[in-house]
Amino acid sequence: MPPLLEIHNLVTTFNTIDGLVHAVNGVSFTLEQGETLAIVGESGSGKSVSMMSLLGLIPTPPGKIEQGEAIFHGPGGARDLLHLSPAQMRDVRGGQIGFVFQDPGSTLNPVLTVGDQICESLTRHLGLSRGAARQRALELLAEVGIPDPALRINNYPFQLSGGMRQRVIIAIAIACRPQLIIADEPTTALDVTVQAQIVDLFKKLRQELGAAVIWITHDLGVVAGIAHRVMVLYGGRVVEVAPVDELYERPLHPYTLGLLGALPRLDTHEQRRLVSIEGTPPDSLLPLRNCPFAWRCTHTFQRCWEAIPEPVEISPTHQAACFFDVEKGEPR
Ligand SMILES: Nc1ncnc2c1ncn2[C@@H]1O[C@H](COP(=O)(O)OP(=O)(O)OP(=O)(O)O)[C@@H](O)[C@H]1O
Ligand SMILES: [Mg+2]
Repeated sequence: MPPLLEIHNLVTTFNTIDGLVHAVNGVSFTLEQGETLAIVGESGSGKSVSMMSLLGLIPTPPGKIEQGEAIFHGPGGARDLLHLSPAQMRDVRGGQIGFVFQDPGSTLNPVLTVGDQICESLTRHLGLSRGAARQRALELLAEVGIPDPALRINNYPFQLSGGMRQRVIIAIAIACRPQLIIADEPTTALDVTVQAQIVDLFKKLRQELGAAVIWITHDLGVVAGIAHRVMVLYGGRVVEVAPVDELYERPLHPYTLGLLGALPRLDTHEQRRLVSIEGTPPDSLLPLRNCPFAWRCTHTFQRCWEAIPEPVEISPTHQAACFFDVEKGEPR
């Protein structure tokens, strides 16, 4: 079976009054069918912009997808998501690819009932009649753990708590049984107990639907519980990717080492933000010409200032983009 998604060399910029912002600088990765991939990296590393690029949600202008390929092996065959017409993209987004963003407030329409919003997706993508869509919406509300769906279906978003609104968004995301769900920090705006509930709900749904999930998070505790693989972004580049256990046991990029360095325990649901590493990220107004982490790295040598490191295959499943071998303590 081909992978579900193959991203090659995605480059996204924003033309701002300060200059060209280099948000995503050549991101490549694949996602297998049914796989959960966590994307971690500090603020501004390009996590959201890469996913928005795939979903056709980059405002253009000022945004521009400069290059790249995003081959999605969906039900209609292989298609490049970066080259779909707006109408084709609307079919894919919400139909074959569901998404859940951080802030439930901005995703739901405040003047429509939650029922109407779920039904809208079902009628548009699956062509269900009004009656059938409403029946299905009730089932979906129950599926995501909303008590008393018959009452809640007529509620407006403001009548629900933050956790309940996020459940509604998840109901919309899974309504059309997508092959892929992209969740961008879906629990950050919620309190800790509700976060754990949403993570558990995702695990349950993922199993039931067999859908692949891309889960963006700052919370390394959640990563260990939910993901098969982790991809670490830095300065709009993939710096390391590996199965979860392998990444924790054998981090090979100095940035990943820094991230994991101050992590006390991995087996709890306790919220843990990424630790701060000394120094600041590269200036995204300058085109990337060398290793994005060189400014903060303790292993930097001349080559790190002269070229951008490409991913090195450490094992068939583990790649790190670094000129230095941290295990041997010498350049590769
Ligand atoms: N609309 C925009 N106009 C200009 N620059 C933007 C825009 N959206 C994002 N950027 C820039 O793109 C870069 C990547 O941003 P992105 O939102 O992808 O970061 P992130 O990894 O999702 O961070 P966070 O963890 O804070 O959500 C940042 O430098 C950001 O300032
Ligand atoms: Mg983001």
